[in-house]
Amino acid sequence: MTPEEAKKRIEQLTRELQRHNYNYYVLNNPVISDYEYDMMLKELEELEKKYPQFKLPDSPTQRVGADITKEFKTVKHKYPMLSLANTYSEGEVRDFLNRVEKAVGSPVEYVCELKYDGVAISLIYNNGILVQAVTRGDGIQGDDVTNNVKTIRTIPLRLLGDYKDELEVRGEIFMPREGFEKLNREREEIGEPPFANPRNAAAGSIKMQDPKEVAKRPLDNFMYYVPHDLPGVETHYQALQFIKKLGLKVSNNIALCKTEKEIFEFINDWDEGRKNLPFDIDGIVIKVNRIDIQKKLGYTAKNPRWAIAYKFKAERVETVLLSIEYQVGRTGAVTPVANLKPVLLAGTVVKRASLHNADIIAQLDVRIGDYVFVEKGGEIIPKIVGVNLEKRKPGAKPVKFIEYCPECGTKLVRKEGEAAYYCPNEDACPPQIKGKLEHFISRKAMNIESLGEGKIEILYDKGLVKDPADLYELTYDDLYGLEKVIPAGEGEKPRKISFREKTVKNILQGIENSKKVPFPRVLYALGIRYVGETVAKKLAYHFKSIDALKSASFEELVVVEDIGEKIAESVIKWFEKPSHIDMIERLRKHGVQLELKEEENVVSDVLEGKSFVVSGVFERHSRDEIKELIEKYGGKNVSSISSKTDYVLAGDKMGPVKKEKAEKLGIPIISEEEFEKMIGLA
Ligand code: IVH
Repeated sequence: MTPEEAKKRIEQLTRELQRHNYNYYVLNNPVISDYEYDMMLKELEELEKKYPQFKLPDSPTQRVGADITKEFKTVKHKYPMLSLANTYSEGEVRDFLNRVEKAVGSPVEYVCELKYDGVAISLIYNNGILVQAVTRGDGIQGDDVTNNVKTIRTIPLRLLGDYKDELEVRGEIFMPREGFEKLNREREEIGEPPFANPRNAAAGSIKMQDPKEVAKRPLDNFMYYVPHDLPGVETHYQALQFIKKLGLKVSNNIALCKTEKEIFEFINDWDEGRKNLPFDIDGIVIKVNRIDIQKKLGYTAKNPRWAIAYKFKAERVETVLLSIEYQVGRTGAVTPVANLKPVLLAGTVVKRASLHNADIIAQLDVRIGDYVFVEKGGEIIPKIVGVNLEKRKPGAKPVKFIEYCPECGTKLVRKEGEAAYYCPNEDACPPQIKGKLEHFISRKAMNIESLGEGKIEILYDKGLVKDPADLYELTYDDLYGLEKVIPAGEGEKPRKISFREKTVKNILQGIENSKKVPFPRVLYALGIRYVGETVAKKLAYHFKSIDALKSASFEELVVVEDIGEKIAESVIKWFEKPSHIDMIERLRKHGVQLELKEEENVVSDVLEGKSFVVSGVFERHSRDEIKELIEKYGGKNVSSISSKTDYVLAGDKMGPVKKEKAEKLGIPIISEEEFEKMIGLA
């Protein structure tokens, strides 16, 4: 290929990929398969690497994330980024409507929109290309987070059509609930504290230093405002249609309302309907539609006079704070939990509420015996949002966060920049040891199901196991006859667990079977901080054995894809502990897989993040072999077809129901041969 041809091909691929991106992410209507898309992207990446001089500023390859930003540049907003006046009262919405109409002197038309609960962002396009993305900051100046925002696939890097003037659009970046829950599960897996709600997760993501990490966060956006004039545009509604045509994501859940009645109908419909949205909203925004009227009404120092936000009331109740309990997790993080006098909230009885950390306790200034307000908002567990000071008993003392571990008495430590206190006694603090053992036997790790449901706790309490290697030294006689009564929970009977012959045999068999678990999962099972399932796979395939990983230097670790400084440091620290080295040697002695087997060696990540449903009979492989190949190449097997399935891999005699479902959902059905091509076997 001549440089001239390469330049042409780069341009062509950039354009085409952009079109497919828009079809896929904004219109939700892909016209090519993910596979075809990935192949085009790969071709573009290779060409750009060879001919960096031809890479276009809006290249879709930027979606995977640019280099680390050490510090965000502060940028002054060309138009200040104001916030909206908030109200929780219908009366105040009426006051707002009356004020506007009085000032205008005639009936006014409004646009009602959803109030997205995320982080505000300002996007600047020049010559049709996204050149800057800035956070709200203090409204006058914000942080330049362009490289992070470029990874969000629903934000176009180039506008559709040929709009060349400078365009500034404002909107919200948020994290849909499903992605948020998945992210939190992954964080808990690697011992990171979960985010309290999707808003915090979105805000945290957009401020990360590594755009490659941001690219992995499931962020989305809606645009809702243009702070300057647009050609031929007289109303806010038209402005939204204008930017929608340029490829920006604008919600369809917008209503033009002429009367107060219509506005309240919109509010009430969404107060109910928001439960069915895939993302959180915290209210409704009501905006004057005509831009000339907006200009006439003008601004106060902080807010436009032509718009108001009506915030939904989170369901809130008052109850008594009985006590605060401190829980110690697998990583030693100490979480304060409030025990409350049971109270009904949003249809469930609430007895406990999260207090997150010492700072929050101090901020709220809650005291034992206080009447506290409890809310269920976007959070998973209800939270205490305030104290009814009028009902505070005289002499109630401020809560002092514990200084010593409630489980082992070790003095707690707080790392710089972290909100949580930790118990540093990781080798002898019971919940930390039990937590690590539970993690070791869990399904995605060694999958020793027969030790689940509290059995591991019994073994620990009886002094039989302290670290995972002890499991492999258990005998029939150690286990037979063990018993424990589990106290009754609310509305339950007490349970007795006793180890009879069958249980003991199952346990021993489960432990024996775990010796076949492949090395990547063993590495994950060890519970090294920040080494979740994916990181464990990457490390295992790169270093191939625990010995090679153990002797890897910091520099050797950080060159591995997706391994950052934090992970590298954590791995090195883990191997510095003599007790860990001793445990590995004992695991080795018992035959646990501490290196990749020959056939596991040839793997790659080409199917990373893709989910497959395998159906039918195949010519060259058994169904199990196909499933194994999918996993080996980084993909995931799922049992039933849903909109989230990426491919259906169909052999002969695929069920007609599955076929119909895949077709209806537009999921590509691929053959054994196409699959082999994907992973480079054909
Ligand atoms: S309009 C000048 N529309 O709510 C008016 N804001 O305090 C600009 N928000 O900072 C804002 N959904 O982050 C507008 N449909 C919507 C919105 C919205 C959420 C956020 C935005 C703003 C805050 C208002």
